[in-house]
Amino acid sequence: MNICVIGAGYVGLITALSFSKMKNKVICVDKDIEKINKLNKGVPTIYEDGLKDLLNESLTNKTIVFTNDIGNSVRSSEIIFITVGTPTIKDWDVDMTQIKDVIEQISKYIDDYKVIVNKSTVPVGTQKYVKEILMNIGVAKENFDIISNPEFLREGEAINDFINGDRLVIGYDSEKARKVMEKLYEDFNIETVFTTPETAEIIKYASNAFLATKISFINEVANLCNKVGADIETVSYAMGLDKRISPKFLRAGIGFGGSCFPKDTKALVKIGEKYGCEFNVVKSAIKTNEYQKDIPIKILSNHYGDLEGKTISILGLSFKPETDDFRDAPSLHIIKELLKSKATVKCYDPMVSKDIQKIFPNIEYAKSMYETMNNSFGIIICTEWDEFLEMDLEEVKQRMNRPLIIDGRNIFKPKEIEGKEIYYYSIGTI
Ligand code: UGA
Repeated sequence: MNICVIGAGYVGLITALSFSKMKNKVICVDKDIEKINKLNKGVPTIYEDGLKDLLNESLTNKTIVFTNDIGNSVRSSEIIFITVGTPTIKDWDVDMTQIKDVIEQISKYIDDYKVIVNKSTVPVGTQKYVKEILMNIGVAKENFDIISNPEFLREGEAINDFINGDRLVIGYDSEKARKVMEKLYEDFNIETVFTTPETAEIIKYASNAFLATKISFINEVANLCNKVGADIETVSYAMGLDKRISPKFLRAGIGFGGSCFPKDTKALVKIGEKYGCEFNVVKSAIKTNEYQKDIPIKILSNHYGDLEGKTISILGLSFKPETDDFRDAPSLHIIKELLKSKATVKCYDPMVSKDIQKIFPNIEYAKSMYETMNNSFGIIICTEWDEFLEMDLEEVKQRMNRPLIIDGRNIFKPKEIEGKEIYYYSIGTI
């Protein structure tokens, strides 16, 4: 099929490349010329396992093209995916500017029937809102249908999640559009939920908020484990054996980050407020997450009192391993707090690019895990990169001024540290 994907961000790029792999003809549109040029040359704009190969395969097979020409892209496509950002703005509101802009732009080029598919995470009611915009502009009713098709891929597993995900959700209000979507996804072996657009829109926020709540819940249990000398790993394992609970998303730590959970939990609270529905559970999950991110700072302050002038090492900047994405990562909050306490911050991440230096120009970026530890008073493990598991604790001790590890992702078992004369703090493990 001829598909146009508008927005070459994380979701847009994976959507475009996955459909091109499934033998469709895809045009991916973005207004960022630099990004377009890179992608047309086969240079990925994000780090994602398998992305470079897929990009080059699609370019070689001529099943994908990247452009900033929205007009021709819309005219030559039967399906138009919208995959632009819906960030949180002040008071936890969702910023719909990019969606609105795209709709206004494409409206100029709709001269025959198009299925417009929204993949961005959007508040309930957006499908209706988009329809109204198009009708108000004067686009003929019979020339379009709007589908809500939220995306559930995870960064780091994006391509596999897209092609072999747990479910597809299609919110529709026209049989004609439903048939187009059935044809588009016919080679995907994924259980599909066909429902109303409003239901589809809620499924996305509810799924993310539920997973985030699961993490905050286990983090609160971990904090209790810390106080009473119990082991959160065993608690999570045993809880997860109950199939109704499942072992997934029960890893305790210094909180969730990324471009989705922090944003979507807040948005759901705000959307609820609009309709007079209080999301008290989600509000608490957000509050607990803020608390978790502060734990390393509290530990350091209790241990040393004043942090001024003391070097603290941050291991891992990305919000999780296997990605270079540091949006809303707990590491950012921790660095900010350390700087407020006038500590000297050194950090290391195997993947995060120099972009982070724009946020923190005055901290030191080490070239290796060990280099960050020189003369340090404390290591904070913020991301569970594999490389950190190999850490030689004798070397750590030699390099540090005072051997202290705050294991924000529980990568060590406390028993491995025992007898090594290292102060070790985890999130609820024994
Ligand atoms: C999340 C969802 O998992 C995807 O299904 C969804 O499509 C995506 O948001 C989105 O809305 O676009 P992602 O943000 O890539 O995906 O990351 P996750 O793997 O879900 O992890 C989120 C955060 O939770 C990370 O900071 C991770 O360290 C943390 N986490 C995860 C825990 O602290 N404990 C766990 O047990 C699991």
